[in-house]
Amino acid sequence: MAGQTILVTGGAGFIGTHTVVQLLKEGFKVSIIDNLDNSVTEAVDRVKEVVGPQLSKNLEFNLGDLRNKDDLEKLFSRTKFDAVIHFAGLKAVGESVANPRRYFDNNLVGTINLYEVMAKYNCKKMVFSSSATVYGQPEKIPCVEDFNLMAMNPYGRTKLFLEEIARDIQKAEPEWSIILLRYFNPVGAHESGKLGEDPRGIPNNLMPYIQQVAVGRLPELNVYGHDYPTKDGSAVRDYIHVMDLADGHVAALRKISTSKDIGCIAYNLGTGCGTSVLEMVTAFEKASGKKIHVKLCPRRPGDATAVYASTEKAERELGWKAKYGVEEMCRDQWKWASNNPWGYQSKPEK
Ligand code: NAD
Ligand code: UFG
Repeated sequence: MAGQTILVTGGAGFIGTHTVVQLLKEGFKVSIIDNLDNSVTEAVDRVKEVVGPQLSKNLEFNLGDLRNKDDLEKLFSRTKFDAVIHFAGLKAVGESVANPRRYFDNNLVGTINLYEVMAKYNCKKMVFSSSATVYGQPEKIPCVEDFNLMAMNPYGRTKLFLEEIARDIQKAEPEWSIILLRYFNPVGAHESGKLGEDPRGIPNNLMPYIQQVAVGRLPELNVYGHDYPTKDGSAVRDYIHVMDLADGHVAALRKISTSKDIGCIAYNLGTGCGTSVLEMVTAFEKASGKKIHVKLCPRRPGDATAVYASTEKAERELGWKAKYGVEEMCRDQWKWASNNPWGYQSKPEK
């Protein structure tokens, strides 16, 4: 597969940057398209720092928006891509409830444009960022890929629609190979401490929030729900190290370029282990040596009690399995946080 050229949409973002590092290390040439809606060019510079000057020559950054077909045309008319990894999208659940049109426009229109241009230039291999959100409130755990799917909010609906769109396109045009990767809860950071998650504003997700409490940017963590029927009353999720996730994309590319007739197929990327909110707090305290003050609060509307993945299909068919546990996730996230308490930017002036 070395020498193949991959287009990575949203490659300046959290999962994108970590995946681009692994792709470059595996010998791929990478072209990123990102509109920097939720990222900064400094993140791409850090990717170059991590991989070194030689491999950086195989990386190209393009400022562009998937909603603008011309931006895609420009890229595809210039470069023959072997496959696309499609991360670009908006992902904040609360914002999607308040402003669904923004989510439908960005996530749906952007992806439909991408399929159009890919088809025009005969690039028909796609790895798509789906999410465990498509399982809704799962009736059973672990979540298995053939469960019924359900959307809980407009963000989740964009993922569900985009999965359906992928299945329809592949059914109508069987030469497409599409892998839908359903991520569970991506956390952690690159072991160098140079790359990590850098959300704008107050974080919505647990680990970025804990991280900001640990570095003193936020006073305490609100723990949403302490009366769930779980081991300690807090909700349970399947946290996965972002580097494991990145390797899952390399495995998906391997599958897509070596197997024929894979169709449109979904894989869970998780560890298969459930960890509660309070367990994550304790693990982060241990990794950082910082006290995380918590406030026990009512449940967050729409949250499931416990969600974790069945990992059998990915292990069997992608030959991929997560290597890291919660301890390494917290260790690497703390290294990123302590080196970069304000993310990729410097501390804002008061
Ligand atoms: P992120 O916001 O860090 O990265 C997404 C990137 O896409 C950003 O750099 C953003 O600027 C870019 N982008 C957004 N809309 C664009 C557009 N129209 N044109 C060009 N670029 C655009 O998010 P992430 O955590 O890296 O997530 C990547 C993908 O994985 C998303 O599709 C997300 O929905 C999905 N996902 C994320 C999680 C998670 O918890 N992080 C979980 C499941 C699925
Ligand atoms: N939580 C808190 N306090 C916070 C933030 C979160 O207690 O400040 C709790 C939540 O209530 C939940 C758990 O921590 O019980 C995890 O919450 P996250 O928001 O980090 O993650 P979710 O499991 O709710 O959802 C995330 C993404 C979704 C994605 C899903 C599966 O936000 O977009 O993982 O991939 F679909």
